[in-house]
Amino acid sequence: MTISITQPPQVAWASGQFTNGPLIRKSTRLQNLTHVFMDEKAWLACDPQQIVYDVEMVDSAPIAGALYTGVTHLQPGKVGDEYFMTRGHFHAQREQGEVYYGLRGSGLLLLQDEKGTARLEPVFPGSVHIIPGFTAHRLINTGNDILSALAVWPCAAGHDYAALTQGFNLRVVEEVGRVQLKEYHHD
Ligand code: PA5
Ligand code: NI
Repeated sequence: MTISITQPPQVAWASGQFTNGPLIRKSTRLQNLTHVFMDEKAWLACDPQQIVYDVEMVDSAPIAGALYTGVTHLQPGKVGDEYFMTRGHFHAQREQGEVYYGLRGSGLLLLQDEKGTARLEPVFPGSVHIIPGFTAHRLINTGNDILSALAVWPCAAGHDYAALTQGFNLRVVEEVGRVQLKEYHHD
């Protein structure tokens, strides 16, 4: 009998750097984030090519029951007063959950249910976030370093970005050098 030992993908905890997998990489730039930030004028004044976040994920076959694993690297920065953040989404299969693990940097995980009730969890190296089904999620970088988080989610979950065209009801801004929360309702 031949027993094979295969090298698994690897994540460097300190940097969040993902290696040794069949990896897919995707960069999201400011120009891809139309109507995501509150201050449209400030967004237009930014460099459209500026990368806001990169996602590196293991290229797993999306067969029944399979899981995806990926790392998001969210840059520090702001559009106007609003911290850089991911677009955020519900899962297309609403009941599917996800787990995030903070690896590097500091920020917030914004969670919003289908009724529009929002809550936040701090993200830091070692934090574990159980995202239930029926809950939209977005990472926000409130620090000066890159915020990296590892995520594991069912391949069947899919992403539904359109359901959040009204955006999240809670925004995170910097005012007089401090992190402030703002209720926000799109008109
Ligand atoms: O599956 C997830 O929730 C993450 O891997 C996100 O897709 C990633 O953080 C990028 O965010 P978004 O898909 O909202 O652009
Ligand atoms: Ni997700």
